Amino acid sequence: MKDATRKIGLSLGADICWPIAYTEIMRALDLAIPFEGERVRFEVERLTIEPFDLQEHVPHDVVIDRLTHWYNPRREWIKKAILLDDVYVFNNPWSVQSMEKLTTYCAMIRFGLPIPRTWLIPPKEYADGLPDLDRTLRQYARHFDLPAIGEKIGYPHFMKPYDGGGWRAVSKVDDADALKAAYEESGTAVMHLQEAVLPFDRFVRCVGLGPQTRIVLYDMNAPLHDRYTLERDFVDDDEASLIRDTTLLINAFFAWDFNSCELIHQDGTWYPIDFANPCPDSQVTSLHYHFPWLILANIRWSVFAATTRRRQIPMGWHRYFDVVEEGMTLRERLDAAMPLVHERFQTERFEEFCATHLADLEEVASEWFGSDQARDAVRQKVAALFPEHEVEEFTGLFFDRIQKWREIEGPGAARGAA
Ligand SMILES: Nc1ncnc2c1ncn2[C@@H]1O[C@H](COP(=O)(O)OP(=O)(O)OP(=O)(O)O)[C@@H](O)[C@H]1O
Ligand SMILES: [Mg+2]
Repeated sequence: MKDATRKIGLSLGADICWPIAYTEIMRALDLAIPFEGERVRFEVERLTIEPFDLQEHVPHDVVIDRLTHWYNPRREWIKKAILLDDVYVFNNPWSVQSMEKLTTYCAMIRFGLPIPRTWLIPPKEYADGLPDLDRTLRQYARHFDLPAIGEKIGYPHFMKPYDGGGWRAVSKVDDADALKAAYEESGTAVMHLQEAVLPFDRFVRCVGLGPQTRIVLYDMNAPLHDRYTLERDFVDDDEASLIRDTTLLINAFFAWDFNSCELIHQDGTWYPIDFANPCPDSQVTSLHYHFPWLILANIRWSVFAATTRRRQIPMGWHRYFDVVEEGMTLRERLDAAMPLVHERFQTERFEEFCATHLADLEEVASEWFGSDQARDAVRQKVAALFPEHEVEEFTGLFFDRIQKWREIEGPGAARGAA
């Protein structure tokens, strides 16, 4: 059997810990996967930033990308690599570039998810130097009654950028005065006003990577390192299935292999409030206990995609809309769409692939996560974020939570986090 090499490129920015974990576990795994008459081996390399010729071919089979949403030279390089060389990239750069919160709300409203009532309002101010601005506004901008819109949505509601991320410029608006003040302060940002799902009893983030999901109970009032809680058993089986399928539907619909979906539970309904997060937090300093899950999921999906030479698949929205009918419950809608979702993520083939070719992964990864090298990777990330006098304490805290994962979910342990 002849050897073949698949190259996996890591397109990185401020990430420190996960690329170390990913690379070192891949090294320890030393995969040699028999596939279509070849023995497939893997090389992992970090992509560098440099000038490129549009005609130059790239040697990669898969790129795991963390830069597209803000660093245009990388995004354009990736688009070129897909078009010229069929490199499989997650996430799909066109989808990341063009889908904002607003687009994702609209699509999921049509599909039938319970999206809280949301309005878009034109910005309070505009950047200088837009040549057609005055003429456009003079002719077409209508005065609008902001308090009346506030009344329609109801109080409290949230004002937040239509393309937001990172909790930037998000405010809770309690009454008409607060709405006016928040709008005054919003500057050039284009804002949504969104009905608040308050009070609620649970807030979850569900991370999807390919067909894999992980539901985490999220505590938005906790300090950053405690927001992804270590709680288990906070959803029953039906709820877990609804949350997973909602996340996978969203990710399949928007061609995002890696995305995180925020849902808030109130009076028997799970409301998705923010699910345009196609570069999810991957830092050990926020994920800690859940961090090994992410690394394993990433290795499985990228190795599967590289080995089988997975190709980008166009979005095909109408396919999802076509299977739902007036009067269907949410559960029925999801059930109708899940075959399309699993077809897109090749779920069955992926699971079989993992069982056959990645049976050692958990064992090898668990051993690495107990190593000094893993501790040092955690420390490097902590040192980049925390003041010097806290580095030792927080390195210990995060590393201990990873050890907890090894005990509770590692190989040999009783299975089953939420
Ligand atoms: N409709 C809503 N009902 C209740 N809470 C909300 C609502 N919209 C936003 N929030 C609160 O505000 C936070 C930030 O809002 P949102 O997630 O939409 O913005 P973001 O900038 O994407 O934040 P992040 O990057 O943390 O995900 C949410 O995590 C939630 O706590
Ligand atoms: Mg959010």
